[in-house]
Amino acid sequence: MRRIVLHSLPLRIWHWTNAGAVILLIATGLYLRFHGIASLSPHDPVLLWHKGIGVATVVATLFWILHTLLNPNQRRQYRMTGRDLRGIPVQARFYLLSMFSGGENPFTPSAKGKYNPLQKTAYAAVMFVFMPVQAATGLLFLDIPVLRDYLLAGNLMGLLGATHVIFAYGLVLYLIVHLYMATLGDRFFSHTMAMIVGYEEQDNGMKRGSGGPTAAETSLDGKST
Ligand code: HEM
Repeated sequence: MRRIVLHSLPLRIWHWTNAGAVILLIATGLYLRFHGIASLSPHDPVLLWHKGIGVATVVATLFWILHTLLNPNQRRQYRMTGRDLRGIPVQARFYLLSMFSGGENPFTPSAKGKYNPLQKTAYAAVMFVFMPVQAATGLLFLDIPVLRDYLLAGNLMGLLGATHVIFAYGLVLYLIVHLYMATLGDRFFSHTMAMIVGYEEQDNGMKRGSGGPTAAETSLDGKST
């Protein structure tokens, strides 16, 4: 067995803080949706929690975006190479078909390439599109005086609300698929454990498709050890 370091400590702290916050936002958001936000007092505790956790999540999202753009190792995880593009059909076939007949995952995570092209696309879409849209529409909903007058005058509150709710359902769908995919490691919890402790144990003799160079790479800065 060899130990493959996958997730840095700041990324793991971000991930679990963000996961907890998003789950609370979904729960409080559903409460607001089904009780009718217009009928609630502006001091309703659930509304105040939703706003507070929402602002914290905006900060967490900004952290991930800056960390991903500025940290070379993290940036490399999201670079789409020609090999990635060619690997999309093979990876999709695995998820849709061969996985259910005992086929082997064509991708092996490594320190230099943690994610297959479909994961790269999904995580980038969530963090660069869905979370920023939720953040922007949520922030615009806060009672910022001049901005609110402008939105009311332009009759934009309905559009804002619809966008916020549609993207929230998108995030719920993402979370369901993400939780399922998190169980597809060598063992049921191996990916989730890696997101807690930072590394995964891989069988030395394991022979699969590669997520980048597979030999003896155990450090996050990309140096071989
Ligand atoms: C309890 C809920 C969650 C669990 C168990 C979970 C689990 C995981 C695992 C295991 C990975 C690593 C993927 C892999 O190795 O294949 C991961 C990565 C990731 N998760 Fe989650 N996740 C959860 C909630 C969320 C939520 C709510 C979001 C965002 C809305 C999220 C966004 C991400 C992102 C963006 C990555 C990639 C991080 C990177 O840049 O390396 N996760 N998650």
